Amino acid sequence: MGRILCIANQKGGVGKTTTAINLAVGLAKSGARTLLIDLDPQCNATGGLGQPPAERHPLVSQQSLSETLRTTATAGLDVLAGSRNFRDVDALAHADPDQSATLRQHLSAGLTGYDFVLIDCPPSLGALTRLALANSTEVLMPIQCEYFAMEGLTQMIEVIREVMTAHPGRLRFGGILLTMYDHSLELTHEVDEEVRDFFGEIVYRTVIPRDVAVSEAPSHATSVIDYSPRTRGARAYVELCLEVLENE
Ligand SMILES: Nc1ncnc2c1ncn2[C@@H]1O[C@H](COP(=O)(O)OP(=O)(O)OP(=O)(O)O)[C@@H](O)[C@H]1O
Ligand SMILES: [Mg+2]
Repeated sequence: MGRILCIANQKGGVGKTTTAINLAVGLAKSGARTLLIDLDPQCNATGGLGQPPAERHPLVSQQSLSETLRTTATAGLDVLAGSRNFRDVDALAHADPDQSATLRQHLSAGLTGYDFVLIDCPPSLGALTRLALANSTEVLMPIQCEYFAMEGLTQMIEVIREVMTAHPGRLRFGGILLTMYDHSLELTHEVDEEVRDFFGEIVYRTVIPRDVAVSEAPSHATSVIDYSPRTRGARAYVELCLEVLENE
């Protein structure tokens, strides 16, 4: 089985979904068989790829995963659509340990054949994010370059550590990604320095600039890499893909 990247941060609006979509598209374009799982009831990753939400979340529906996978406009990229159905969210979130084992089997059975699986998490440290962490091999945490960026990170790291202890040797820190980076702002440089001082080499060299093309792409049901490939945002996400591929 390939690498499973959980894209998580309990803070909202830090660029989780944007990173999930663009990394998934970039990895698929590099030739890697890639699956994007939308675990967020907001279904932004699903919508951003031009797909409608699923009526039942594929991970709790009776169908096998292979029947619920959808292909996308990008060759090599499949998606497991999210669901807004609160019963499904509940079922996913409150799966008892036995059910969660079934879920893991369900997942691993459907994941063979992928080089990369990316899981887009909701902005919370709740059961959905824990479920994603427990089923991943690495966690990628986007951090927005703003005041309070580091606030709450200790809680997040505590939860990641808990999962690492519960499943030794499975989950590793894939990396921290600085998003909405604005070179002209003193604050951006302060956050950059603080995050790199604190986390050291697990912070990606690549930073994602604040770029309007990045925010426009989802309304065209596509990644910024397809929407506007020459922009700084698109180039940064391509660079991030290379860094992720390098960090095997
Ligand atoms: N590099 C960027 N430049 C400009 N706008 C961006 C950039 N990255 C993300 N955005 C915009 O910021 C907003 C939040 O991004 P996104 O939805 O990816 O965050 P999120 O962490 O997934 O949010 P949530 O916690 O609600 O799931 C969106 O409107 C998105 O288009
Ligand atoms: Mg999101």
